[in-house]
Amino acid sequence: MVAYRESVASGAPFTHVLVGDIESERARANELRLAATGAAVHSFVGPANQTVDAMIQVVPFGALALAYIDPYNLEYLSFSIIERLAKLQYVDFAVHFSLMDLTRNIDMELDPKRDRFDHALPGWRSAVPTNALSKSSLPGWFFSAWCKAVGDLGFKVSGQMPLISDGKGRSIYRLVFFSRHPVPDRIWNDIARSRNLSLF
Ligand SMILES: C[S@@+](CC[C@H](N)C(=O)[O-])C[C@H]1O[C@@H](n2cnc3c(N)ncnc32)[C@H](O)[C@@H]1O
Repeated sequence: MVAYRESVASGAPFTHVLVGDIESERARANELRLAATGAAVHSFVGPANQTVDAMIQVVPFGALALAYIDPYNLEYLSFSIIERLAKLQYVDFAVHFSLMDLTRNIDMELDPKRDRFDHALPGWRSAVPTNALSKSSLPGWFFSAWCKAVGDLGFKVSGQMPLISDGKGRSIYRLVFFSRHPVPDRIWNDIARSRNLSLF
């Protein structure tokens, strides 16, 4: 999903929301849900790898945009989609990064005949310092390498990364936010701060 606001100077400061899903029924359901809140919504049906270019073309130059990427697992978190969206002038990202998929499957994915994580972080396998890493430290290494790749696109990855768990102690996702400008980073740090922090 990409939400954007045209600049106030353009005279049209309301929010536009572009939703994308491979399933037309889901795209339509999201469209109806968001339109009910008063947003101008447009849906794109198809594989995100294809629809992202059409979405980018709709966003006016200079608009303030937020891209929310919510794939079921790491296989569909395509780095190429992030790279293409990163070409928008003002864009921040909120990404559900699947920890469960990473933790369960990374050792299998070391097999060069497999490719489920290759779209998320192209070339990752050849960058793993295999001699130095134990199996249990591989997921942390992969996540740090992914954050670094995001940083190399010019973004600061927020220190606040809320952990979504299944209520049984298993971590499912981290909601990772990254931006280029300090203001969205500051706002995110305020809203995503752990509820467990003491006020005193
Ligand atoms: C975790 S759900 C997203 C839920 C959504 N954030 C919401 O609030 O309704 C993942 C979605 O990705 C869609 N999906 C799966 N593969 C896809 C692909 N290659 N391109 C685009 N969407 C895909 C699924 O149909 C599913 O609706």
